Amino acid sequence: MASITIRNLDDTVKERLRLRAARNGRSMEEEARLILGDIDAPDIHVPSVKAAAISPSLKDKRILLIIGGGIAAYKCLDLIRRLRERGASVRPVMTRAAQEFVTPLSVGALAADHVFTDLFSREDEQDVGHIRLSREADLIVVAPATADLMAKMANGLADDLASAVLLATTAPVLLAPAMNPLMWDHPATRRNRATLANDGIRFVGPNRGEMAEGGEAGTGRMAEPLEIVAAIETFFKPADLQLAGKKIVVTSGPTVEPIDPVRYIANRSSGKQGHAIAAALAQLGATVHLVSGPVSIPDPKGVSVIHVETAREMKAAVEKLLPADAAVMVAAVADWRSEGEASQKIKKQPGGEPPVLRMVENPDILAGIGHHAHRPRLVVGFAAETQDLLANARKKLEKKGADWIVANDVSPTSGVMGGDRNHVRIVSQSGVEEWPDMSKEDVAERLAGKIADAIRAVGQ
Ligand SMILES: Cc1cc2nc3c(=O)[nH]c(=O)nc-3n(C[C@H](O)[C@H](O)[C@H](O)COP(=O)(O)O)c2cc1C
Repeated sequence: MASITIRNLDDTVKERLRLRAARNGRSMEEEARLILGDIDAPDIHVPSVKAAAISPSLKDKRILLIIGGGIAAYKCLDLIRRLRERGASVRPVMTRAAQEFVTPLSVGALAADHVFTDLFSREDEQDVGHIRLSREADLIVVAPATADLMAKMANGLADDLASAVLLATTAPVLLAPAMNPLMWDHPATRRNRATLANDGIRFVGPNRGEMAEGGEAGTGRMAEPLEIVAAIETFFKPADLQLAGKKIVVTSGPTVEPIDPVRYIANRSSGKQGHAIAAALAQLGATVHLVSGPVSIPDPKGVSVIHVETAREMKAAVEKLLPADAAVMVAAVADWRSEGEASQKIKKQPGGEPPVLRMVENPDILAGIGHHAHRPRLVVGFAAETQDLLANARKKLEKKGADWIVANDVSPTSGVMGGDRNHVRIVSQSGVEEWPDMSKEDVAERLAGKIADAIRAVGQ
């Protein structure tokens, strides 16, 4: 079919098209498409596009749509219609700038809801409306996401209703950026994009193409309404439960080894990586049992957690959970403990020598699982090293009977222990796979996918 740019049409033709589209309840693009495809198309009260069927993934979903101040704001009218005809409800928030491009009247009419515009509205803020708005959504969509809104979000600013809602929310957020290609490419916007991605914000678009500003082209066009709808549908689609019916045991955190009732030996493991792996495996449908040493982070959702303190308790808990399809041993288990824990607090002796602690070796949990009679089909160990990373990981692979060793450099300069990022190498009999530096959540997601592939391959 031929294509046409509405903007380039003669003003009189444009006005006639606008009236005809409005009469028929279609967008100007749809009307033009229909005319181009079928010259005889009737133009009075004929439903133009068949109303889309209710989408199972969008039905009854509450979308809070934040409209930013860019030219692409007009596309939101179509977006609202597309979302509502698929069964979602749309609650609009408009920035002050957005109202320069489309009116709250049109937005409210299409959304069939009140349009929220003002942080200091007496009506809406009687019950702290910005907090309520941020909580009563299954997903927040920002379209168009202006450079300004992205900068505010990346820096935690909250000086208007849209940015206050975005800062107060725990709901997932999807941005559909739209801006001039030079703005999109500016180092400040690049930094903000990276920060937002790191904060777990999702993106759809922008696309490459012609800009509203005459003669300019590049990346910055907002994704089309149907592309945004597709991204929202994908977000709500039930996860691909590749590990449904599989039982996986994960260990996480440090172990603490008592010296006396008040003192112990421990390490700096935060449990962030192990907990993220347990959560990612559960997301893929696995029944996950997490055996965790003492950590200060919350238990991951959808995972059954056993809290332990010492290496001996961890080993007993893990072995009790066998048989399992896979074991992922992430915990930083203390290699040694103090022999014979004192039953009373060890006291300073006046003028006496400091106590001498004699260390004894702890049981090796990974090796125990790797050589167990009920060995899981897949055994994954972690090697936290400060030197000779790969050589030590290869040795560990052999000695412990593991299928993979996930090796990471935990020297103080790496920032891995206790930090939010990780740079890992997966060492196996078939070689070394190096993954780029990424967030611990991303490592977890990627590792969970690799585990799902491996379990499927073994099962075939
Ligand atoms: C005609 C016109 C078009 C604009 N288009 C965009 C745009 O597409 N993207 C963008 O980030 N800013 C655009 N701006 C600038 C924003 O409107 C401006 O940064 C505003 O402060 C954004 O406010 P908001 O982020 O609160 O909506 C445009 C400004 C004008 C005057």
